[in-house]
Parts: sequence; structure tokens; C-alpha cells
Amino acid sequence: MAYKNTGRPPYVHSGSSWVKRLSIGAGVALALLPRIAQAQDIEAGKALFKKCAGCHNADTDSNKVGPTLKGVVARTAGSVPGYLYSKAMRDAGAAGLVWDEPNLTEYLANPKAKVPTNKMGFPGLANPDDIKNVIAYLKSVSG
Ligand code: HEC
Repeated sequence: MAYKNTGRPPYVHSGSSWVKRLSIGAGVALALLPRIAQAQDIEAGKALFKKCAGCHNADTDSNKVGPTLKGVVARTAGSVPGYLYSKAMRDAGAAGLVWDEPNLTEYLANPKAKVPTNKMGFPGLANPDDIKNVIAYLKSVSG
């Protein structure tokens, strides 16, 4: 048997490229996972948005009983032009409240605790997953 001694066992070469291919495959799968998870969150959030849609648009600029939520993520509270906010919401915005994810999370869990005496007639969402998903949806329509 013509086995040339290369100083390393013969299985090292083929073994390492096998491992390499496997790890590239795993890397691709891992890179795709968050996107798949995010798409699911957005879908769930879109379904959940039915609870808000009586009072809010999210995909057009027009206001209903509540201001449009299109572009709300990272927007200053109380800042949609032409919408008549409560004084509480205008004051909160003037004091620097921005609807980033942590603030939206707190507001949607308990609107009256986050911005006392604001006029949103909605008690909030009890399930943290619902809140996360609805924010994922709002982000997806925030342009
Ligand atoms: C019964 C009507 C109603 C429902 C249902 C409702 N909202 Fe509101 N929402 C309002 C009103 C009215 C305001 C304005 C509050 C103010 O000016 O004090 C508001 C304000 C907001 C704001 C602040 C917007 C800004 O420009 O500062 C966010 C964010 C918000 N709502 C999210 C939601 C989400 C998400 C849902 C569903 C889970 C929801 N709302 C359900 C009526 C509603």
C-alpha cells in the first residue's frame, strides 16, 4: 500500500473540510433564524393589531380616533401634525418621551401608568409576547 507519510494522519484533511462545510451550513441557518422569527412576530403582531385598528391606522398617514401609528417607532410622543392629543400626551412629548421599543413596551402594558391621564381608551395588553409582536409589526410599517 502506497501510503505517503505527510506527517499527519490521512483522515485529517477530508475530516476538516467536512467540519468546515457543516459549520458553514450551520452559520447560514443561524443567520436566517432571526429573520424567520421576526417574520413570524410581524405576522402575529399584524393579527393582533385588529385590537388597535378601530382607533389607529398603521399603514396610512390618516388619523382616526387615535393618531396614525405609521412610523410611530422612534417618533416623539404627541407629535403627529393635525391630531388633537390630550395635554398629557403633548406634555410627555415635550418632556422628551420618544416611542422607542422600551417606552412602547411600557405604554402598551399599561397606558395610563406610562402617561397618566392620556386619553387612549384602551387598557393595555397583558401578554408580553403580544406587546413584542405588535411592536415588531409597528416597526415593519415604520418605513
Ligand atoms: C379605543 C381607541 C383606541 C384603541 C383601541 C387603541 N388606541 Fe392607541 N390611542 C388612542 C388615542 C385616543 C390616543 C391619543 C392619546 C392622547 O392624546 O392622550 C392613542 C395613542 C396611542 C399611542 C401614542 C401615539 C403618539 O403619537 O404619541 C400609541 C403608541 C398607541 N396609541 C398605540 C396603540 C396600540 C398599539 C393599540 C392596540 C394594542 C392601541 N393604541 C389601541 C386610542 C386607542
